[in-house]
Amino acid sequence: MEDQKTVLSCIQPTGDVHIGNYFGAIRNWVDLQDKYKCFYGVVDYHAMTMPYDPKKLKENTWNLIINLMAMGVKTENLFIQSMIPEHAELSWIFNCFCGYGRLSQMTQFKDKSKDSSEKADGFISAGLFDYPVLQAADILIYKADFVPVGKDQEQHLELSRSIAQRFNLQMKKEYFVMPETLHTKTAKVMSTADPTRKMSKSAGEKHYISMFSDPSRILKQIKSAVTDTGDSDGSTMSAGVENLFSILAACGAMDQHKTLMDQFEAGSLKYAELKGETGDALVKLLAPIQAKRAELLTNKKEVKSQIKYSSSVIRKRAQETLKEVKDIAGLSNVKF
Ligand code: AMP
Ligand code: TRP
Repeated sequence: MEDQKTVLSCIQPTGDVHIGNYFGAIRNWVDLQDKYKCFYGVVDYHAMTMPYDPKKLKENTWNLIINLMAMGVKTENLFIQSMIPEHAELSWIFNCFCGYGRLSQMTQFKDKSKDSSEKADGFISAGLFDYPVLQAADILIYKADFVPVGKDQEQHLELSRSIAQRFNLQMKKEYFVMPETLHTKTAKVMSTADPTRKMSKSAGEKHYISMFSDPSRILKQIKSAVTDTGDSDGSTMSAGVENLFSILAACGAMDQHKTLMDQFEAGSLKYAELKGETGDALVKLLAPIQAKRAELLTNKKEVKSQIKYSSSVIRKRAQETLKEVKDIAGLSNVKF
């Protein structure tokens, strides 16, 4: 156990979870729990970087906790970021080891600030700019060896490493180990309404399939999935058909996948059949997850006390790191 490597990943509490989030990220989190010491955070401090509604933030945070538990993330690995204020304190310290110029290069900041500046009051918070430094604190406070994230987060990971390096160099102590991105083969799920774009919530309701929709809605969404995107001449596979095959495989329905793929190659595939099998496989896969969520929802009080406990245990590790960092950095540690 002592030698076990540490994995950390976090997710922002923004409403619903869709099958793209599950197949592309959360299921991987669940699998990693068997092999590594895992820490998974619901990062509510990060969700404040854009204008938001406080009531909704709290609601989304707890809903996401319940959803993650329903999908198989172990309670003892879960924490809520604002329950561990040491993240914010370390992020201040890291601010002083992060170049302003380097932060200005972050593409996520450029994209999001561009979106915001086009909105009514054009407000862009300093928090949005500083967001990657808080992310570095999330990672380094647990001395994570591996961080499973998608490609879009690679730049933030590099920044975390450069903050760790600068800290080590300036403090003349090899304290932080460099966190690595954990690349795992996961499915990229496309929108069923427009299979040329990634499934996402921001595109609107018809573009994503929620993990917790009722089966009739899921079947309907798959049934109406766009298959003819004009990018196929019948011999090559269109993006929509490819997406359905990939969802079918992600559900583990490999027998059906093979049969239908053979039919595709023979030129006899009926899209209605592919949709029928994919819809059924998805509903079957989601049934126990949905049942687990329903059960957790009847016991919110218990969930809250479990998460308070797991966050308090995880916090101890964060406190240890922060104490060491403050000692190294010439700050005053005191126990009142
Ligand atoms: P988001 O809420 O978009 O930041 O996504 C949370 C996690 O789900 C990230 O790790 C994403 O890489 C992953 N994810 C989001 N959308 C998809 C998708 N359509 N296919 C695969 N993975 C996705
Ligand atoms: N920035 C990540 C995202 O937008 C979320 C995140 C915050 C994160 N802190 C993290 C991911 C630490 C990995 C590790 O998806």
